[in-house]
Amino acid sequence: MTVKIAPSVLSSDFSRLGAELAAVEAAGGDWVHIDIMDGHFVPNITFGPSVVKAMRPHTKLPFDVHLMIEPADPFIAAFADAGADIISVHKEGGPHIHRSLQVIRSLGKKAGVVLNPGTDIGGLEYMLDEIDLVLVMTVNPGFGGQAFIPAVVDKVRKVKALTGDRPIHIEIDGGVSTANAGLLARAGADVLVAGTSVFKGGTEADYRRNIQALRDSL
Ligand code: DX5
Ligand code: ZN
Repeated sequence: MTVKIAPSVLSSDFSRLGAELAAVEAAGGDWVHIDIMDGHFVPNITFGPSVVKAMRPHTKLPFDVHLMIEPADPFIAAFADAGADIISVHKEGGPHIHRSLQVIRSLGKKAGVVLNPGTDIGGLEYMLDEIDLVLVMTVNPGFGGQAFIPAVVDKVRKVKALTGDRPIHIEIDGGVSTANAGLLARAGADVLVAGTSVFKGGTEADYRRNIQALRDSL
């Protein structure tokens, strides 16, 4: 199984977003992970659909949009229109997670469900037909650069046991580094979000080296 690396633009230079996107694509990133925060569901604010739309022409990589907003439903269509390829919503992002997933699929986008570190996998068995991805948080959402929570690795194994051979990605978000990437892949992860560990250094050459180091550590 090939593990994909999804650089998180949260750690990029926001004043040069277009150039940063081109750089991570040239450096070998597979997906672009885009964190949307509302200052309500999480204690931080990033940006909305108009910024995602402005980013879209700067790379051909899939846009993996992580909605840390509540309620999520009223904004799903706007992010789909802005150029998202995958849209993920938190289990706690609204009253009816199953409906949110159906809405994402109905817009022709891939749907993901997000599990916070303190959220169990209960109910996931009833969403398997509606999802393309499970995003397992290994930090509490809201900020880049936080410490990886090792207890969540066991949850990754449980998610993999549930998804089995279905074409459902298991993506990890938070504190991913060369120290844990291999462990996560062995637990069943096939997409690794990486903010700090990709964007450290600040140049395309650094990003290439950082992405390669993550791949080598697998
Ligand atoms: C955190 C975000 C992450 C963040 C990860 O709320 O969901 O995507 O960018 O950053 P690192 O890799 O630095 O932990
Ligand atoms: Zn994220």
